Amino acid sequence: MSDPAGVPVIAVDGPAASGKGTVAAGVARALGFHLLDSGALYRLVALKALRTATGLDDAAALARLAAGLDVRFGNGGVWLDGDDATAAIRSEAVGVAASQVAVHAGVRAALLERQRAFRQPPGLVADGRDMGTVVFPDAPVKLFVTASAEERARRRHKQLIEKGISVTLESLLRELLDRDARDSARAAAPLKAAADAAILDTTALTIDAAIAFVLERYRARVGSSPGR
Ligand code: C5P
Repeated sequence: MSDPAGVPVIAVDGPAASGKGTVAAGVARALGFHLLDSGALYRLVALKALRTATGLDDAAALARLAAGLDVRFGNGGVWLDGDDATAAIRSEAVGVAASQVAVHAGVRAALLERQRAFRQPPGLVADGRDMGTVVFPDAPVKLFVTASAEERARRRHKQLIEKGISVTLESLLRELLDRDARDSARAAAPLKAAADAAILDTTALTIDAAIAFVLERYRARVGSSPGR
């Protein structure tokens, strides 16, 4: 397609552990759309910074690192400099570092085109913090997925315990609130709902109900045939 702006985008933004990633993946599967996990890009920049001992406050070095990032996505995984980084980017430490590198405007600018390149037919579901506000402001469908902080901490706790990682609920809640505060307070592309986004509170919703809500909104706004 020569006009990427004609490819529909469903922008799914929201705070950490709100369920937006699961919802975005389910919607992409149902519609046969591509999926952009933009948080993975910030996590990759953070991982590379940690591995190269680049200061998380060194804006210029981080922007260079982000611009030159050697990344490949495929088969549900991600490769950094040719090595499988799928598991490494999911640690809490990398998540916290990601929210620190994400405050720098230069890092965000360096990742902008990389994110927009995911807009390919028949359509894209884009998951992040600024998909509807900055990266795809013309997206026909925008969601802001949220849930209470306690519920988000409880979900993250369950995930980590299932992976055999022992961590207390209180420390997770504290980390989550810190990350929310940093994401919301930063000057560059802060976490906030786009003016035209629908708010989807998943605190008391099943994943299937949340996915159904998004699909319904997509059909109402864009039509029933995927791709248009
Ligand atoms: O969504 P995820 O938890 O993987 O994102 C990790 C961090 O990356 C977030 O806390 C946020 O600071 C940053 N991020 C961002 N903009 C995005 C996606 C993620 O600033 N579009």
